[in-house]
Amino acid sequence: MVCIDPNDIPIIAIVDAELMQSMPRSLTAATGMDALTHAIEGYTTKNSWEMTDFMELKAINLIAKHLKTAVNFPLDMEARNGMASAQYIAGMGFSNVGLGIVHSMAHPLGAFYDIPHGVANALLLPYVMAFNAPSVGEKYRDIAYAFGVDGIDGMSTEDANHATIEVIRNLAKEIGIPQKLHEIQVKSKDLVRLATAAFNDVCTSGNPREVIVQDILAIYQEAY
Ligand SMILES: [Fe+2]
Repeated sequence: MVCIDPNDIPIIAIVDAELMQSMPRSLTAATGMDALTHAIEGYTTKNSWEMTDFMELKAINLIAKHLKTAVNFPLDMEARNGMASAQYIAGMGFSNVGLGIVHSMAHPLGAFYDIPHGVANALLLPYVMAFNAPSVGEKYRDIAYAFGVDGIDGMSTEDANHATIEVIRNLAKEIGIPQKLHEIQVKSKDLVRLATAAFNDVCTSGNPREVIVQDILAIYQEAY
């Protein structure tokens, strides 16, 4: 269960990219993909609006530029600073508008199996984006622009959606994120219980597409 309360919000947070230089490769990858998930879910959530949209798009742009370098060259301060800013800007955005079912579905994976939060998000993100695509209008095209994807201008909405999802799937793969739930010790017999927990998660109501518990189960099964 995720605890959200004014009393568990820090009064001061220190964002210091130098401290991040010693993060292991897998932690850099997972937390970076968590930040990307915050930005994408914050940009597409039902409650998104102009005041936070530009933050999410800027965060996506910074992550596209810097995450791979931060993973592969941990001492590169330009990349570490870029990711430090990106995660903070994404957080400023989503904290004001909420998230969606990538987070709803990632939370029980952490609770049931101790799967790192960022790994769970990164693995689920492309599957949920594909499910949500009919409800986000042209927003995936905006994400592709922020990523610097070539040739997105002339594409149909459907092709642009597909291209955007593939860019994100490939980024996760390149930085060593597992692609399927069965690779990370998830058991198929638990999927129904996971789906119920995810459906009841605080983030579900913000998802751009209306969901029922069977939709969430189907996404888990596909990701399995
Ligand atoms: Fe998160």
